[in-house]
Amino acid sequence: MSVCTLWRSSIVKKWLVAITGLVMVGFLLGHMAGNLQMFLGRGPSPEATKINEYAAFLKANPALLWGTRIVLLFSVLLHIVTTISLTRQNRKARPESYALRASVASNLASRTMIFGGLTLLFYIIYHLLHFTLGCVHQELFTYPDVYQTVLSSFQIPLISGVYIVAQIALYFHLVHGISSAGETLGVSHPRYRECLNRIGIATATLICGGFISIPVGVLTGLIS
Ligand code: HEM
Repeated sequence: MSVCTLWRSSIVKKWLVAITGLVMVGFLLGHMAGNLQMFLGRGPSPEATKINEYAAFLKANPALLWGTRIVLLFSVLLHIVTTISLTRQNRKARPESYALRASVASNLASRTMIFGGLTLLFYIIYHLLHFTLGCVHQELFTYPDVYQTVLSSFQIPLISGVYIVAQIALYFHLVHGISSAGETLGVSHPRYRECLNRIGIATATLICGGFISIPVGVLTGLIS
């Protein structure tokens, strides 16, 4: 079977969206756990600060760093391209009368996913320009002292606010995304659907709660 034939299949596309989504969930769990080292505070020097040691460890292991970056970039691009293609394919396949009768709930869910996904795309671009490249808020970028960059950034309520709003968008995207990925990958029995929803809510709460705790920790002075 050729790649073109596979690409025309909506089942194959759904699998691609689900698998690339789960790869990103794996990255988010790791990234969130790494960022929680902000709570371990500042060490006697920037080099002896836990989160800076972690960043330095990643930089000192280019195979790990670039391997993760390449898999992540590939997953993000494939996730976006496949979602756009799947949405267009579904619209074309749907006769006008069906479109009118289509369930309001499922339309709302897919619109929320597209809107949430776009919000996250803008957020990720801003986030990379902010923390990885230091192109926005240049005056706050104190590389390689990641601790200081995160601290001085989140001491500005507007920046913290942007991050918190982005995590809320991420939460809704993850809750729906994780349970749909489970269904696509075969957990479709009604008995397991409720369990899948709970897994989606628990994972999204863990990831987004962990991320949100950092700006909240800075604003409340718990991280200083
Ligand atoms: C409070 C929340 C977050 C904080 C404090 C944070 C912090 C950081 C920092 C400091 C870096 C740069 C690491 C370095 O270059 O040494 C980074 C990179 C990155 N972050 Fe976040 N992050 C947060 C949330 C997120 C979220 C929600 C996403 C995705 C939706 C995300 C995706 C990324 C990506 C893709 C990179 C680039 C990784 C790389 O350079 O290899 N981050 N983050």
